[in-house]
Amino acid sequence: MAMLELSQAGKTYLHQGIAVTALHPLSLSIGAGEFLCLSGPSGSGKTTLLNLMGVIDAPTTGTVILAGKGTAGLSRAQTARLRRQHLGLVFQEHNLIPVLSAYENIEYVLLLHGVPAPRRRERVRHVLEMVGLDECAERRPGEMSGGQQQRVTIARAIVNSPAVVLADEPTASLDSATGQSILDLLQRLNREQGITFVFSSHDPRMIGQADRIIALRDGRLASDLRP
Ligand SMILES: Nc1ncnc2c1ncn2[C@@H]1O[C@H](COP(=O)(O)OP(=O)(O)OP(=O)(O)O)[C@@H](O)[C@H]1O
Ligand SMILES: [Mg+2]
Repeated sequence: MAMLELSQAGKTYLHQGIAVTALHPLSLSIGAGEFLCLSGPSGSGKTTLLNLMGVIDAPTTGTVILAGKGTAGLSRAQTARLRRQHLGLVFQEHNLIPVLSAYENIEYVLLLHGVPAPRRRERVRHVLEMVGLDECAERRPGEMSGGQQQRVTIARAIVNSPAVVLADEPTASLDSATGQSILDLLQRLNREQGITFVFSSHDPRMIGQADRIIALRDGRLASDLRP
């Protein structure tokens, strides 16, 4: 089954009265278990496409189907529920809450879902261990390295066992060794947990580790390869 299905989905922004087409209509199907990289130069539409996939933005043309469910015409509450049920997001704008510990940042997602306390504790411990951070549970984001913070963000994205995780340049602000370890972590979660990953990157090494590479250029699909 396709986890994400875009049919002629496109996005045009109105910027100071001028229409800017960030993404020309494109059709795309992403299956369960894919480890997919969106590549392309700055301004090519990677974040715009991830925002459509993540139901953060609605397309101005076409449709987006997430886990078999149409996303058009939903209320804000319905959209939020759909996103919470199926998606984990690793986006720069969805940063960690500075006053909460690593543990609390992750637990927060489960509180939103109404998960009871014993189950919350079990899940948070489990994902902290999966990302190798059990010892940092009580630290606040400011007391951790960039790579550790990114691992907390990943733990938070997977705590609710989503089918799909979307990550916008998950290694961009990290040095190359730390970036590689984050990519290895994503790949391990993909292989071991079967989570579908869609991430964007400029980094040739990251792009080379993907099972499928979709290249964008000027808001158009330039190529779709499975090396
Ligand atoms: N809110 C907005 N209003 C107007 N134009 C926008 C908006 N968001 C993005 N754009 C434009 O859409 C195009 C695609 O932007 P997008 O952020 O998707 O690119 P990107 O591939 O993610 O780039 P980068 O690698 O720099 O993150 C760019 O020309 C950008 O200026
Ligand atoms: Mg971007």
